[in-house]
Amino acid sequence: MTLTTVSMEDYLEKIYLLIEEKGVARAADVAAALEVLPSSVSKMLKKLDEKELVKYEKYRGFTLTPKGSSLAKDIADKHHVLERLFHILEIPSENTYEEIEGMEHHIGKETSFCFRSLIRFLEENPDIRHFYLQYREEQIERLRNQGTRL
Ligand code: FE2
Repeated sequence: MTLTTVSMEDYLEKIYLLIEEKGVARAADVAAALEVLPSSVSKMLKKLDEKELVKYEKYRGFTLTPKGSSLAKDIADKHHVLERLFHILEIPSENTYEEIEGMEHHIGKETSFCFRSLIRFLEENPDIRHFYLQYREEQIERLRNQGTRL
């Protein structure tokens, strides 16, 4: 089993998305996407290379090894599932992106499956989704009346 840190997973996810978008991930693009210094990128890429998760190709940039790619795809998939969940539940968060970026590293396969199943259930049963949203609105209203903040 490959042990990865949150930070490694963020890099893998970005590299994966850059490769999907541009066919290749350059260190400078990774630095820009993660808003970090190029020196941090080289350090991290070295670590990921040691773990055989990325491969450096001269004059081309970085690619993911099959192991790196599957890990990165897992994270990107969880990110996508969480996005859909936030959307279907109309979660009124002001920093949805940051929350999802944090959560994606901590949910397991079973949890992700349950979320997908819930999303599908709510898509197929718009009435139930509507009842839930209404119920939540009432709860919020009640709390507001009590002077309690969320
Ligand atoms: Fe993400």
